[in-house]
Amino acid sequence: MAADCPRVYKTGRTLFGSGHLAALSLHPARVLVVDDEEDILLAAKLLLKRHFTSVETLRDPARLADLVRRNGFDVLLLDMNFTAGAEGGTEGLALLSQVMALDPQAVVVLITAHGDVSLAVEAMKRGAADFVTKPWANERLLATLIAASNLRQSRLEASEFRSRSRGLAEATRIDGEMVGTSPAMLRVFQMIRRAAPSGANVLVLGENGTGKELVAREIHSRSKRAQEAFVRVDLGTLSPQLFESELFGHRRGAFTDAKQDRIGLLRAASGGTLFLDEIGNVPLHLQGKLLTALERREVTPVGADRPQPIDVRLICATNLAAERLADENVFRQDLLYRINTVEIALPPLRERPEDIPLLLEHFIAIYSEKYNVAPKRLSAAALDGLMAHAWPGNVRALRHAIERAVILSEGQMLELSDFSLGGGGAAQGSPASAAAGPESSRLDSVERDAIARALEAHGRNISRAAESLGLTRASLYRRMQKHGL
Ligand SMILES: Nc1ncnc2c1ncn2[C@@H]1O[C@H](COP(=O)(O)OP(=O)(O)OP(=O)(O)O)[C@@H](O)[C@H]1O
Ligand SMILES: [Mg+2]
Repeated sequence: MAADCPRVYKTGRTLFGSGHLAALSLHPARVLVVDDEEDILLAAKLLLKRHFTSVETLRDPARLADLVRRNGFDVLLLDMNFTAGAEGGTEGLALLSQVMALDPQAVVVLITAHGDVSLAVEAMKRGAADFVTKPWANERLLATLIAASNLRQSRLEASEFRSRSRGLAEATRIDGEMVGTSPAMLRVFQMIRRAAPSGANVLVLGENGTGKELVAREIHSRSKRAQEAFVRVDLGTLSPQLFESELFGHRRGAFTDAKQDRIGLLRAASGGTLFLDEIGNVPLHLQGKLLTALERREVTPVGADRPQPIDVRLICATNLAAERLADENVFRQDLLYRINTVEIALPPLRERPEDIPLLLEHFIAIYSEKYNVAPKRLSAAALDGLMAHAWPGNVRALRHAIERAVILSEGQMLELSDFSLGGGGAAQGSPASAAAGPESSRLDSVERDAIARALEAHGRNISRAAESLGLTRASLYRRMQKHGL
């Protein structure tokens, strides 16, 4: 579910079990040098072991695949020719392809003799990271290998991130498709179908729980980038201190806690879709930084001197009303124009009660299956009551109400009394609170007031309200639903 999406990904990957003290000043990378000449191997080892935590050498290329499979090196320094007298470099190319097939994140630096440069270019097309010429200059070799180990780090993070977000995309697809029959929702579906393949930037507007994230995921999964990452960034909870480092990444040592290079969420999304959620909550002074990155299509990681390109399809969402967004004291208008090429506004559920029967059917089927009960039916009175309810928490609240009713109801038929609709916004009195004792109802009303106040104070920004109450988003949603807020 949306609330469970990770906002940040793991950092501080530990490449090595225990840190040997002497290793602290070394670059944390396992390097393998492959060459048929013993002298070269010895020279390389002597030089590199003073700079990297682990350096191994290999003379016999026949053992390379096995070694890579078992040890997964961070950087390979690979000679191009092995057989005596061989100069064509075909051996090196074949080994390179073998390594890249075993580990697509492998970082291979080639050693070439002078004159092999066109061959090196061919090798780089096949995935080699860089090349050095023989005989090498120590400084240049070191600089190349350090850059290569940084590249390895970024590739690993990006790949971990991609596989994680692919997993999430799968999970939400199972979580459900989007349904609706109201004219307003049919228009939304049509816009999704048209906008998705275009690659245009999309801004999704709507109250909490109206399905903004679902729209973003639909657009991604119908776009040309469907096989790439869908990266959601919750800007509502990103602290101003972490804003740049989380979004743009940082270099090792850029600040005290920066123990490793970090790729940043914008670059992690590169190739795929970047979903900037709660964009209306970015403070004005940070909106400028975001705009610059989006305009230039590049980010400069904190502590880096060169910008890095990003290639993302941008989808943004906010629960701010369109009028608030149009107020330049709240939102930079140049940023607005950058993100709202296509604007999709999701109407609140109370304005489209004709969608309620289909949503009910949809969620009853989902939860009956999930909880392994025979599909429940809905009484006519229950349907009327649910359609007359104002649903301030929109589709999410409806969904939770159905889940609870499916779990708690005893018979085959769901009655209105199986749904605890809460006081506010309900068409009828809440059976649940009527049944509760005076003590618990007093507690309930304290809780309700606290939540209502927090929501008000944070402009119904769920992330912030939840944070101020010390709750997770999910549990705040549950309580909002309980109190009909
Ligand atoms: N039209 C719909 N059809 C089916 N399920 C829906 C629909 N709209 C919303 N939902 C479901 O309602 C829940 C809330 O949707 P979503 O998280 O996309 O809302 P949101 O607008 O991003 O909310 P918030 O602003 O609170 O983050 C999800 O479980 C989603 O699957
Ligand atoms: Mg959302």
